[in-house]
Amino acid sequence: MSEERSSIHGEWSTSLAFILAAAGSTVGLGNIWKFPYIVGTYGGGAFIMVYLLCIAIIGIPIMMSEAMLGRRGRQSPYNSMKIIAMEEGRSGWWAWLGGIGALSGFLILSYYSVVGGQVAAYVFRALSGEFNSQSAEGIRSIYEDFRANPEVLLAWHTIFMVITLIVVSRGVRAGLERAIRILMPVLIVLLVLLMGYGMNSDGFQNSMSFLFHIDFSSLVFEKDKLGNFVFDTSGSRIFTMKGILTAMGHAFFTLSLGLGAIMIYGSYLKREVSIAGTVFLIVILDTVIAILAGLVVFPIVFEYGLNPSAGPSLIFESLPIAFGAMPFGELIGFSFFLLLLFAAWTSAISLVEPVVTWMIERHNMTRVQASVWTGIAIWMIGIFSVFSASGTTLRRLVNTTSDYFKLAVPDMNGRFFNLTAFDLVDALVTLFLLPMGGLFIVVFAGWRMRSASTRDELNLRKDWMYNTWRFMVRYVTPIALLVVFIFGLVAWIGKHFVTRAVIT
Ligand code: TRP
Repeated sequence: MSEERSSIHGEWSTSLAFILAAAGSTVGLGNIWKFPYIVGTYGGGAFIMVYLLCIAIIGIPIMMSEAMLGRRGRQSPYNSMKIIAMEEGRSGWWAWLGGIGALSGFLILSYYSVVGGQVAAYVFRALSGEFNSQSAEGIRSIYEDFRANPEVLLAWHTIFMVITLIVVSRGVRAGLERAIRILMPVLIVLLVLLMGYGMNSDGFQNSMSFLFHIDFSSLVFEKDKLGNFVFDTSGSRIFTMKGILTAMGHAFFTLSLGLGAIMIYGSYLKREVSIAGTVFLIVILDTVIAILAGLVVFPIVFEYGLNPSAGPSLIFESLPIAFGAMPFGELIGFSFFLLLLFAAWTSAISLVEPVVTWMIERHNMTRVQASVWTGIAIWMIGIFSVFSASGTTLRRLVNTTSDYFKLAVPDMNGRFFNLTAFDLVDALVTLFLLPMGGLFIVVFAGWRMRSASTRDELNLRKDWMYNTWRFMVRYVTPIALLVVFIFGLVAWIGKHFVTRAVIT
């Protein structure tokens, strides 16, 4: 049984190494780039509340299950699932969870890397003093000029992919984990300092009421890019569950769940280490960093009258204004973007790791070959996001207003397919593939594994802890996932049958 099966990768002696690796994976662009802009889009407090709820009832049980499965299987997600399924007398098809996971990681990295590249560019822009004493308009046009150049975006996307794949191809992470130990606290300190800066600004009051005011209408009704509600011809607001679906999807994204990344790290974990304790620590760390990022970004947004629902460009349009206005702004901005780049890098590594192990095992490649081919393929898919970011070529073909990552494919009435490449891939993965992977994981852990096995592997200190976990993964988590899924789907389909009133 699992006691005799030692990890093919060797083991971590303490829980610290696991915590560092998992923190490197979970803390990334999701916390600092994505969280603020989706909070802004879906109206603040109510979104944060639903998000926290999803973290608690979906995120934590799934993360514990993933780490548990990884530690029990001690292999790549595909082989771990295969071995455990066999031990439990279940179908070998469960191994395909590893396949879905590899696909999700592949797709996420294709745009993650484009954004990571933009962060890399901003490291140098911050240092150059370009942001000094710029108005909000100035910062915005700096950003627009930057992203209007597909060549430049492509170059940065390439650089980001290369630095990621170098680490993965050599299979070295030990050095990175030592760096995470130092850089993660530095990132938190810097965020706290920036938050302190925001507290003294005029936007602070407004940002507090935005972040903590609970109003569910933004979560369930359709809004346009300016944050105004959209009405149908009968004058009522259009029901969508996009906000709730997004909150759930983001719980997966920010905690690196649903594709086997945590399973891989779990496979290095020693048996003595408490899975529950480490998982709670990681979840708290990740959540605190996201909330801090919100507290840094929104005072700037409100002080300078920016649009909170600006979308993916939000941090690039807000933070540089503050860096340009504060003393030592070049240095602070430089450090901030550098730390963010590092966080994005360690996350990207964990996104590509499942793909690479999949290639090594399934296609009999060496690690270097697998990394090169995977890297090239992801890089190529990323080009779609580059072009939709720069909005060139295609924008001239269709008359759409300039939106971030616009790759508009018009339908009869100019919507429905009016998604960007980024929107499309992001929605496919975070709203569908990751939750799907998560659902399979909890169903397997809760219903297909014997309770003796999960009890033994989780090795929780108290009986009630185990019983709570098991009740969660059997009932609460899968039902919550299904409810959000089904309602989201129904609302999404329904939304396309209503005719919108045109408001000018
Ligand atoms: N969690 C990372 C972030 O917040 C992104 C990420 C890394 C991820 N590995 C993952 C998302 C695995 C889903 C699955 O930026």
